[in-house]
Amino acid sequence: MIAQTSLAGKTALVTGAAQGIGRGIAIELVAAGCRRLTIVDLVAGEELRQTVAELESRGAEVLFVGGDVSQTATVTQAVDQTVQRWGQIDIIVNNAGISKPTSFFETSDEQWDQVLRVNLRSVFLFMKYGGMAMRDQGGGAIVNMSSISGITGGSTGPDYGASKAGVIALTKFGARRLSEFGIRVNAVAPATINTEMIARNYASLSPEEKAKRLSNIPMGRMGETSEVGRLVAFLASDAASYVTGETVGVTGGRMSS
Ligand SMILES: NC(=O)c1ccc[n+]([C@@H]2O[C@H](COP(=O)([O-])OP(=O)(O)OC[C@H]3O[C@@H](n4cnc5c(N)ncnc54)[C@H](O)[C@@H]3O)[C@@H](O)[C@H]2O)c1
Repeated sequence: MIAQTSLAGKTALVTGAAQGIGRGIAIELVAAGCRRLTIVDLVAGEELRQTVAELESRGAEVLFVGGDVSQTATVTQAVDQTVQRWGQIDIIVNNAGISKPTSFFETSDEQWDQVLRVNLRSVFLFMKYGGMAMRDQGGGAIVNMSSISGITGGSTGPDYGASKAGVIALTKFGARRLSEFGIRVNAVAPATINTEMIARNYASLSPEEKAKRLSNIPMGRMGETSEVGRLVAFLASDAASYVTGETVGVTGGRMSS
């Protein structure tokens, strides 16, 4: 029998889900049947309120943990609170990330450290501490947010593509070492998805440059957050029971930066 993308009975934790792709992922997890969801995010403003309202209107219970995902204390608190509240943590989606477009020589040493901490260290921390909880309960699924920039090097800055390439390597290492505990680890690599991050990055571009970037996408449009969310829901579900260590693109056919 073929397993469907069903997340009924599962508990999920999604980082950076107040807005953007993380919000789209949370909505699609709930659409697939997940009813217990932890959101971990830096911001707790209007965007978060709207996301929580949307998820609750679809029948989910939401736990919010505020904090910086690159800090160990935030990660252990988020994992502990999730397990305390619901007794399990079946799915972790490491989505939170930042990008700051800069030229090579303008990229400050501090920016390099910050981007690597938020985009890569946080993924290690959730795989480590969330993975321990999954190991103790007998398994789970982790989906990490990479990017096409992690494959091509990207054009945002030297830090961003390097952090996302690190996510791909960490995903492969995690799959190799965590399979024996019933934990699958996969990554998704979006290209251009219609979010605040892209709006900010595109704000500094000329109309010609924006048009050129869109013309690089064979499908001729940006992706929607729901299109990333449905892929994540599949990878997190038992329908993907033999898929681990993979990085799956969601790009509209775009293959270069
Ligand atoms: N938008 C795209 O085209 C695109 C393409 C490829 C990969 N990505 C990746 O997808 C992920 C989400 O991107 P997005 O476009 O939705 O971005 P976004 O800026 O719209 O949303 C990011 C979310 O993460 C949260 N966040 C940022 N830093 C945090 C931290 N230190 N601790 C906790 N939360 C934090 C923000 O508050 C926000 O809610 C990122 O990892 C990004 O690199 C995005």
